[in-house]
Amino acid sequence: MDQHSPRPHLSRRPVKGLSGRLSVPGDKSISHRALMFGALAVGQTRISGLLEGEDVLRTAAAMRALGAEISRDGADWLVCGRGIGGLVEPADVLDMGNSGTAARLLAGILATHPFYAVMTGDASLRKRPMGRVVDPLSASGAQFFARAGNRLPLTILGARDPLPLFYRLPVASAQVKSAVLLAGLNAPGYTEVEEPEPTRDHSENMLRHFGAEVTVTQAGAGRHIRLKGQPELRAADVDVPGDPSSAAFPVAAALLVPGSEVTIANVGLNPLRTGLFQTLREMGARLDVPNQRTEGGEKLGDMTVTYSELRAVDVPPERAPSMIDEYPILAVLCATARGTSRLRGLSELRVKESDRLAATAALLRVNGVEVEVDGDDLIIHGTGTIPGGGLVETHMDHRLAMSALVLGQAASEPVRIDDASFIDTSFPGFLKLMRGLGAEMAAS
Ligand code: S3P
Repeated sequence: MDQHSPRPHLSRRPVKGLSGRLSVPGDKSISHRALMFGALAVGQTRISGLLEGEDVLRTAAAMRALGAEISRDGADWLVCGRGIGGLVEPADVLDMGNSGTAARLLAGILATHPFYAVMTGDASLRKRPMGRVVDPLSASGAQFFARAGNRLPLTILGARDPLPLFYRLPVASAQVKSAVLLAGLNAPGYTEVEEPEPTRDHSENMLRHFGAEVTVTQAGAGRHIRLKGQPELRAADVDVPGDPSSAAFPVAAALLVPGSEVTIANVGLNPLRTGLFQTLREMGARLDVPNQRTEGGEKLGDMTVTYSELRAVDVPPERAPSMIDEYPILAVLCATARGTSRLRGLSELRVKESDRLAATAALLRVNGVEVEVDGDDLIIHGTGTIPGGGLVETHMDHRLAMSALVLGQAASEPVRIDDASFIDTSFPGFLKLMRGLGAEMAAS
C-alpha cells in the first residue's frame, strides 16, 4: 500500500445514542492461521467467516505463491493444502503489506522448507524488528539475510535438515511463539517453547484442530508448549469468530455516546484476548455476554453494551498480552472517564504498526487531553470532557485511525484523521458499520 492515496476523515458527536445489532469481521489472528494451517494440511479446508482485510489477503497470496490452492466459494474460502514440508519455492518476492503477524509466522514456516524466499512489506512493516523471529529460527539451520536491525526485506534460505527448537521467549509474543511452532512442524522430534506470560493460544488450538500433538503445561506465571514434529496435518474446517479486537471499537463508541445500546453477535472470547473487556468492567462498563459457546476450540458469544459512565482505571502490566492491540482504544475511553488512569508496562506497543505508545499519547494530546508517558506507562488525566478539534496522524496504523474516529464521537469539536485507508487492513467496512449504528464519521 505504499502508493496509496490517503483518505482524510472526520468524526463528530452524534445527536443521539448509537444503536443496533451487528457482526464484526472475522478474527485476524485466527484468519491468518486458518490459511497457513490449511496450506500445510493434506486435503481441503473450508474456512467460513475469514477476515477479508488487507493483512489476511496478503497471507492468502503468499500461501498461493508457495503452492497451496486457495479460492473463494460463496462467502467461504477453500484451501487445498500441500502437506507438511510440501510447499514450493515462490517465483517472486512475498509482499506481506502491513502485517507483522503474516511476516513473522511465515518466517517460521519458511525456516524449515529447503528453498530460497524473500519477504518484504510496506513502509510500516519494513521498520518493524524481525530479529525476534530470526534469532530463534536460525537454530533450526535456516539462514536469514536482512537489512540493518533485522528489518525487511528478509531473505530466507530454509534448512534442508531442520533441527527442532527449544526456545524461551524473552518477550511475551504470540507471533514469536507461533513462528517457532510453525517451524517445528517440519522438524523431527519435539519443538518446545516457554513463554513468560500466557499469550493468545490460537496456534496451539488450531494445531490440535488439524490433528497435531500439542501439550501445554503451566510453567510459573507462564506456559510450556511442546509440539511433536512432522505430524500429518489433516484438513479441518474452521469457523472464524468475530474479532474481539475489532469489536472493541463499536463497544467503545457505545460506551461513550449517551443513550447507546449495541449488540455484537459472535464475538471471539478466547480468555487470552479479553483483557479489554475485564478492564472495561472494572471501569464500570455494562457489558452483557449471553449465548456463550465453544466452536473449533475457541470460545465465543454475543455482547450487548450499554452507555456507561466510566471511572479511571489502573491496568497491571501482566494484563498486556491479553489486550495488547486494545491500548489505543482503551486510552480513548480513559480520556472520557473522570480521574487519572495508568496503563502499565506497554513497551511492546513501541514495535506495533506504529510506535503506538507515542502515537496514542499524541492522538489524545492534539485533542486537548492531558497525557504523560512515564517509562513504559501511559498516564491519562480524564476530566470527563474531550475538547477535540485535532488532526490525528495515524502513521499507517489501522487501530490509531479507528481509535481517533471513536474519540470524535465524544469530543466537543470534530476530530480529524490524516488517513482512513489503513482501516481496511483489519476492519473493512468499519465506517459503514459505524454509520449504520448512528455514528457521525465522513470523508473530509
Ligand atoms: C498477534 C499477536 C500480537 C498482536 C497481533 C496479532 C498474533 O502480537 O499484536 O496483532 O496473531 O499472534 P505479539 O504477540 O507479537 O505481541
